Amino acid sequence: MLKIVVCVSGGGTNLQAIIDGIDQGKITNTKISGVICNNAGAYALTRAKEHDIPAICISPKDYTDRAEFNKAFLEKVNELTPDLIVLAGFLVNIPAEMVESYANRIINIHPSLIPSFCGKGYYGLKVHEGALARGVKVTGATVHFVDDGTDTGPIILQKAVNVEEDDTPQTLQRRVMEQAEWQILPQAIDLIANGRVSVTDGKVKIINV
Ligand code: GAR
Repeated sequence: MLKIVVCVSGGGTNLQAIIDGIDQGKITNTKISGVICNNAGAYALTRAKEHDIPAICISPKDYTDRAEFNKAFLEKVNELTPDLIVLAGFLVNIPAEMVESYANRIINIHPSLIPSFCGKGYYGLKVHEGALARGVKVTGATVHFVDDGTDTGPIILQKAVNVEEDDTPQTLQRRVMEQAEWQILPQAIDLIANGRVSVTDGKVKIINV
């Protein structure tokens, strides 16, 4: 059984897709040990509580400096003894110590086709604003392992989504979530839980069974 900790910052629709995926048997061999959130008002925390999943709030604002927060954050994660950490709309930089201790055991969902519209400053709606400003016809989402860069780790799954002429950042965000994120994040967790993901030389291979 793969024990996962899901880290969230906002509405938690990707967390909901994981909860539903487990309930519906689309994600197998997986248990959510806890949800960690950096924002006390986030609806994601309510989603966790409604499903009796331990929900922990830890905010950088409650610590004197970043190093203290990073230490406390790593301790909280370690207490939950996860096999995999899932960043599902988590807008906090992952401390280097955590990346090191959980090498190839942290995954992130990003709302574009990496390497487009990713890296520093590209998160949430800003990603879709960037895609519309550039006039791309196709965008999408990516699930990748987290390394010491921003959105630079090995890519596990990607799914393309069409951009429509009258899209706003909000309509595009919604379509990318519905058609890509809520599908490939649960799918990636299921693949990992069933031993079907390997990483060699920074590239992911999906093992067929
Ligand atoms: C999602 O679109 C996710 O891809 C994005 O934040 C949103 C969270 O929504 N993540 C990033 O931009 C990370 N760089 P949710 O809270 O409803 O899942």
